[in-house]
Amino acid sequence: MEAFHVPVLLRETLEYLVPPGPDCLMVDATQGLAGHSTAFLDRYPGLRVLGVDADPEMQAMARERLAPYGDRVSFRRCFFDEFFGDFRADDERPGVVLFDFGVSMYHFREAKRGFSMQGEEALDMRLDPSTGRPASDLVNEMDARGLARILEDYGEEPFAWRIAQAIERERRVVPIDSARRLAELVRAAVPPKARYGRTHPATRTFQALRIAVNDELGRIARALDAAIESLAPGGVIGAISFHSLEDRIVKLAFRERAEKRARNRYRKDEAEPIPRTEGRRSLVILTPKPVEPGNDEVEANPASRSAKLRAARAAD
Ligand SMILES: C[S@@+](CC[C@H](N)C(=O)[O-])C[C@H]1O[C@@H](n2cnc3c(N)ncnc32)[C@H](O)[C@@H]1O
Repeated sequence: MEAFHVPVLLRETLEYLVPPGPDCLMVDATQGLAGHSTAFLDRYPGLRVLGVDADPEMQAMARERLAPYGDRVSFRRCFFDEFFGDFRADDERPGVVLFDFGVSMYHFREAKRGFSMQGEEALDMRLDPSTGRPASDLVNEMDARGLARILEDYGEEPFAWRIAQAIERERRVVPIDSARRLAELVRAAVPPKARYGRTHPATRTFQALRIAVNDELGRIARALDAAIESLAPGGVIGAISFHSLEDRIVKLAFRERAEKRARNRYRKDEAEPIPRTEGRRSLVILTPKPVEPGNDEVEANPASRSAKLRAARAAD
């Protein structure tokens, strides 16, 4: 199972997200194949982990992997914004909350739901295939203007309008229902000099559609506030982002609640906190700048190259 997904920034996540007590609860809000969960369970023998994942296939594999930990692990299959939205005052407050956004290598290599550009796979891209609309609906039904906006907003695709027009043109002939067909169509739509670079020219299109299909950014924005409110006193929260839009949402959510620290040029760490957010949890930012993987990690796992970890601790 390890071959399917290597947990990113694992050492750094363990370093920053130190549980406030020996026997607290960790919510792994994007449990995936449980790489981070396993590392926390091994390091902290009193820790319990509640794993959340929207994808039933991923959760089934996580359950299997975590079976040796017995009743130290539990699971909820839902989107993380729904999980934190349902959080009740008498629920156990987590001492650690971790988000590791996006999809895993398993989704690209094995899931056969159109995440990868290579296969003759149905263009679906839903994390939870039982709800919402597949990517093929967007691609075959949305007007070119709407498609171009998605590609621009979520993929920062410079040729968004050309690609959207090509999609509109092609689908009049035959509906676009396979990942490979969309990838080929995008390659043909971009200017010749952009067709054969280091990454496939459809990479940004696929990313944008996946984000739109799963409402990934909306879910992050909705979940973060509720997750911060759910923290146990002294609890820590961390979020690993893979592109600038995700990272920006995390940065702003943390910053909004950040305590300003009184200046103390000798002992910065012990400066008195000044609460800035009334009636809401305040945070101490643990990562003034996002933490990025070192060269060794990027070399061993190129998929980690754009990862950024931000972490914060509840001030009360
Ligand atoms: C990058 S992977 C996590 C990998 C995990 N940390 C590990 O070490 O194996 C992200 C996981 O979160 C899930 N996911 C993504 N967005 C989600 C959301 N909004 N709610 C719940 N699960 C989500 C995906 O299905 C995927 O399994």
